[in-house]
Amino acid sequence: PTPILYDCDPGHDDAIALVMAHRSPDIELLGVTTTCGNAELDKTTSNAIRILDFIGAGDVPVAAGCVRPLARPLVLGTADGPSGLEGSPYLPMPKRDPVPQHAVDFLAEKLAASSEPMIVVATGPLSNIGLLVLKHPEVLPKIKELIWMGGVFYRKSEIITPTEFNAFCDPEALKIVLDARVPITMVGLDVTMQVLIETPQYEELATIDTELGRLVMDWLRFYEKLHRNSMGVGGAMHDPLALALVIDPTLVRTRPAHIGVDLGGTYAFGATVADFWKERGEEDNARIAYEVDADRFFKLMFDLLRDPA
Ligand code: BDR
Ligand code: CA
Repeated sequence: PTPILYDCDPGHDDAIALVMAHRSPDIELLGVTTTCGNAELDKTTSNAIRILDFIGAGDVPVAAGCVRPLARPLVLGTADGPSGLEGSPYLPMPKRDPVPQHAVDFLAEKLAASSEPMIVVATGPLSNIGLLVLKHPEVLPKIKELIWMGGVFYRKSEIITPTEFNAFCDPEALKIVLDARVPITMVGLDVTMQVLIETPQYEELATIDTELGRLVMDWLRFYEKLHRNSMGVGGAMHDPLALALVIDPTLVRTRPAHIGVDLGGTYAFGATVADFWKERGEEDNARIAYEVDADRFFKLMFDLLRDPA
């Protein structure tokens, strides 16, 4: 299995990604760090612990990170409700505390201790990773790849906005990470808005007759409300797609580019812009995902949610 560190802000879609990370035989989940984003830090941290404990991953350490973006006030996500994980009344409250170490120091320690460079997955605003760059630059060579759910580039569909939430929430952190040349793969709305939970996926999920299957169903019923009301589509599996790339990187096609992030925008604040024609004359600093095999992604996701026969 591939060892990973996972930075997230659960969040319903982060929650499903966490479940997949723990249940995949191809992943060794070495630790989870939390950031503010979909909800305040105390809530995303408690949500991460609740989920991990519920799925039998009580031994996976959780370290809490940034309470706000690096350079601006926190603007919360709106899809997940006040607790960040509405629609899960039966999920027990956390029975343990996060480790007594800031996420950034936890990440640095784990990276330093690893003999090989590692994959880090991030599915929230990049505040923790940005702060890692500032505080522990010595461990950056230990990041083999940062797979990040964030950004949007092609905006080909009418349901896609100019800015993606994780980029919008902490654009300075993203810029710090890009400028540090951390090898980042950006899994943005261009691909994640193509993995939507619609009728066939609900039908498939309904066949998973377990406590976990029912919990995920409850999550998705809540999570889809915003998508359904504002865009007329089902819930997007943003973060599960990013996580799935650890298991199967061929689920998406990627291309290199120089990415800029708009820090002063009037209408597109936090927008990510790819310079494919090299007009800015800058070296590529990221890979961006631009095409996804949605059917294969959903097969992988449901296989991981279903108990082995
Ligand atoms: C991203 O923002 C959050 O609401 C989701 O968890 C996902 O990481 C999508 O824009
Ligand atoms: Ca997220």
